[in-house]
Amino acid sequence: MTTLTTTPLAPLLDRLFDEADAAAAETEAAVADLSDDVRARLMRSKTDYRDLYGRLKNAPLAISRETGTLLYMLARSAHAQTIVEFGTSFGISTLHLAAALKDNGGGHLITSEFEPSKVARARANLSAGGLIELVEIREGDALQTLNAGLPDTIDLLLLDGAKALYPEILSLVESRLRPGAFIVADNADDSPDYLTLMRAPASGYISVPFGEDVELSMRIGHG
Ligand SMILES: C[S@@+](CC[C@H](N)C(=O)[O-])C[C@H]1O[C@@H](n2cnc3c(N)ncnc32)[C@H](O)[C@@H]1O
Repeated sequence: MTTLTTTPLAPLLDRLFDEADAAAAETEAAVADLSDDVRARLMRSKTDYRDLYGRLKNAPLAISRETGTLLYMLARSAHAQTIVEFGTSFGISTLHLAAALKDNGGGHLITSEFEPSKVARARANLSAGGLIELVEIREGDALQTLNAGLPDTIDLLLLDGAKALYPEILSLVESRLRPGAFIVADNADDSPDYLTLMRAPASGYISVPFGEDVELSMRIGHG
C-alpha cells in the first residue's frame, strides 16, 4: 500500500486528472487568438512568459498521469528527502512528489508558482491529500523565490514552469544537487538550450529523452 494508491490521494488525483482533461478546450481558447509564431515566441521567451501564463491562470497544465507515476517512483527509489519544483500550478505533480516523501518517511518539498489563484488551489489540493505539511509553496517568480533559502542537499528537481528558464533555474539549484539526484524536465523540447546543456559530454549529467515530452537526467558530478 502506498499513499499514491490509497484514499484520500488516489481518488483526488483521479478527479484532478479528469478535470485537467476536461479543461483542454478552455485552455486552447485562452490562447486561440495567438498565431503559432507568437505562441512559439512566448513559449521560448525569457522575459514575456508572464503574459502567456497570465492567460493560462485558470488552466491546470498538468503533467500526464504517466509522468506523475514516474515522479513518484523516482523520488521513492532515490529515497528523496528534499525536492525542489519549478511550476506548481494546481499541485498535481506536487501531490505525487509529496506522496513519495511521505512514503520515504518524511521530507521537504519547495515548490514555486507566481499566479496567486493557483497557489491557493494547490494549497487546497495538498490539504485535501493530507500532504500540505511536507510542502512549502513559494509565491512569486521562481527566479527570485528559488534564489535563496534552499536546503544544502537536493535529491530531485522538477522543471515544469516557463520552458525558456530551465537553464537559469537549474543554475540556481545545481550546486546543491547530490550525485545521483534526478532532474525531470517536462516539455523539454520547448527548451532547446536546456537540452543542449544537459546532453553535452562534460555536462555533469547523464540525460535521456523519456516518453513523449520528458527529459530525464541524473547528476553525476561537476561538469
Ligand atoms: C505546466 S504548469 C505546472 C504544472 C504542474 N507542475 C503540474 O503538473 O501540476 C507551469 C506553471 O508554472 C508557472 N510558472 C511559469 N513560469 C514561472 C516562474 N518564472 N515562476 C513561478 N511560476 C512560474 C505557471 O503559472 C504555471 O502554473
